[in-house]
Amino acid sequence: MDDYGKKISERMWNQPDKGELEAEREQTFIDDIVQKAYIERELLDSLDDIETAFDGGAGCGRFSILLAKQGIHVTHFDISESMIKKAKEIAKKEGVSDKITFVKGALEDLSAYADNSFDLVMSFDSPISYTYPNQEKVIGELVRIAKKKIMISVSSRLGALPYLANPIQKNQFILDKDSKDAWVQWCLSNREQMIEGFSFNKEKLLKAFDNGLLDDIEETKKAYDRGETPWCISYHFMPDELEGILKRNGVKNISLAGPGAYARTIPNELLVKIMNDPKQREEFLEFCHKFDSNPYVSGMGKDNLFAKGDL
Ligand SMILES: C[S@@+](CC[C@H](N)C(=O)[O-])C[C@H]1O[C@@H](n2cnc3c(N)ncnc32)[C@H](O)[C@@H]1O
Repeated sequence: MDDYGKKISERMWNQPDKGELEAEREQTFIDDIVQKAYIERELLDSLDDIETAFDGGAGCGRFSILLAKQGIHVTHFDISESMIKKAKEIAKKEGVSDKITFVKGALEDLSAYADNSFDLVMSFDSPISYTYPNQEKVIGELVRIAKKKIMISVSSRLGALPYLANPIQKNQFILDKDSKDAWVQWCLSNREQMIEGFSFNKEKLLKAFDNGLLDDIEETKKAYDRGETPWCISYHFMPDELEGILKRNGVKNISLAGPGAYARTIPNELLVKIMNDPKQREEFLEFCHKFDSNPYVSGMGKDNLFAKGDL
């Protein structure tokens, strides 16, 4: 079995500062705010008859802790000790530690869980994509352990391809240019250099369009073997492909969405203005949810393709 995906993910996500860095994301970038708001809204609207949930690749608990605060028993499952440590710290602060079972494990092996174990199974912001080349089997396993509902977001192929012609796209979403955040400052100080070093590469785009992989995975594997910590291999799904996999596994009433599709059409100055006015911000996030839920734009979300369905 090719387990490079798992080994590379394990090394990358277990870096000691990973939990801290991920926990800060929503104060830093507007696309992350929009995507988180989308998923929160979806979750809070779907909790009738949900008593138990499994969060696969739950990170520092953005969604597991949200559900625990609603009284749901959540199994918080993740490959990274440092993410789990941060999640435990936040859960304690929020007073919901007794509602959450923390488990360190890889999505590639869910054999410890019986069929239909959890009312709701969820996995957000790409953990499934990081299990390449086992992503299809992993979705099948997540469906198997779900009893009533499944909700996931994975890396989006159509949503990610613009990166290859726009290496400065994260700049569009910087909320505060004076932020001390290292990534914000990196984006700002490297802007000119990124533009100068850029050239349009049709070959690379066509390859990624075809195979769903933005990086050269042989290079990633070699870097791993040299002892480096490359970004994990990420498989990017097409909307019809994701829908087909869910259908083949017996999921019904499937709907797809592209969180961030509307926000990505708006320039930074205007996004910042909207975000800094509480009323506009609330109304904007509400409208984003409506627009991004339209199946015609599902592929054009910012980074993620969202899917939900019933069992
Ligand atoms: C971008 S974070 C998302 C975290 C969380 N779902 C959220 O939306 O806040 C991706 C998470 O997936 C976890 N992960 C990556 N590969 C995994 C695997 N093979 N099995 C389980 N977790 C994995 C990482 O440790 C990390 O916490």
